Amino acid sequence: ARGASLTDFAEKVGVDAAQLVQMLFHLGEMVTATESVNDETLELLGEELNYVIQIVSPEDEDRELLESFDLEFGEDEGGEEDLVVRPPVVTVMGHVDHGKTKLLDALRSANVVDKEAGGITQHIGAYQVTTDVDDNERRITFIDTPGHEAFTAMRARGAQATDIAILVVAANDGVMPQTVEALNHAKAAGVPIVVAVNKIDLPEADPTKVRGQMAEYGLVPEEYGGDTMFVDVSAKSELNLDRLLEAVVLTADASLDLRANPTQDAQGLVVEAHLDRGRGPVATVLVQRGTLRVGDSIVAGPAYGRVRAMLDEHGDNIEEADPSRPAMVLGLNAAPGAGQNFIVVEDDRMARQIAEKREARERAAMQAKRRVRRSLEDFMAS
Ligand code: GTP
Ligand code: MG
Repeated sequence: ARGASLTDFAEKVGVDAAQLVQMLFHLGEMVTATESVNDETLELLGEELNYVIQIVSPEDEDRELLESFDLEFGEDEGGEEDLVVRPPVVTVMGHVDHGKTKLLDALRSANVVDKEAGGITQHIGAYQVTTDVDDNERRITFIDTPGHEAFTAMRARGAQATDIAILVVAANDGVMPQTVEALNHAKAAGVPIVVAVNKIDLPEADPTKVRGQMAEYGLVPEEYGGDTMFVDVSAKSELNLDRLLEAVVLTADASLDLRANPTQDAQGLVVEAHLDRGRGPVATVLVQRGTLRVGDSIVAGPAYGRVRAMLDEHGDNIEEADPSRPAMVLGLNAAPGAGQNFIVVEDDRMARQIAEKREARERAAMQAKRRVRRSLEDFMAS
């Protein structure tokens, strides 16, 4: 019961809403029956009515909502035998101007297959590259986030999108405040870190110093007997990019069991979404399990729709997207927020019902917040 209206609450506890309005009036709160109230007010009412009120987290509430449709987000269906190896999902993090964007661009062009396939590469917030490691073609998915805000936003929503973090440190600048922040985020998420010591083309680059600094923060290079891989790179001169990709693959193989069930209905996360003038809402999603197909009914946060078309990072149409594959999805009725989950459901009706419930809840929570702010302002003014 979060950000619920008094009417909702009255129904739940089996009393008259008007009675609650009166009760709150006596307690010094002016609320109408249809207005949303905050958690504290609900707790207050609960005490008055001798009820134990349990405030449910938004995550739990959403879990309950999905359960009521016989759905679950986050677990692969089936058993061990249904799981298939999936590519690692990698996020690039680091201090401002240390070369995250440049490195992502360079890694993308280091793609060994279908380099020219779709012509101009589009910015879709995530992309997959195929690399050769020991003559094996290996795919790696990169999430292209502006700084680590998106990473934090996803984590705050309980969504773990990343398997491995590449921490970029410019060799001319060394460890900076956001390097440490990024490092702490990755550690808190329990994600293995590969350090890319960037800008080694510069004469003042001092990659040895970077290693020493990072060791102080607990990331001891392998060559010093630690277990963190450091790769000296230059995004600008495209130096050692293959070695960086190899380090990612080795890290995935050595410390992660990356598997997913490709046969179930697809689930995953929204990486970014926006309203395109011509195409309507466009969402870049990362498929985490299952296979997403054109024609699927999906609900993504408070948005829903039928997948009308899917595009890959080259802007080419694709019919399906398997685990760890990012895809641009057209056909939603609105742009969901970064980090919100998406689920393929039985039909459009179910997608709409879930989306509308989430929408109503988000609206109620906003209202409750506004109400608190308003009464605070009144209080300050008086
Ligand atoms: P923010 O997104 O602002 O946090 O920066 P960023 O980490 O994405 O850095 P970005 O890729 O924009 O690069 C910052 C500057 O460093 C740009 O002028 C790049 O051209 C330059 N740069 C990036 N990589 C290298 C490199 O390997 N060598 C040299 N010399 N310059 C580089
Ligand atoms: Mg950048």
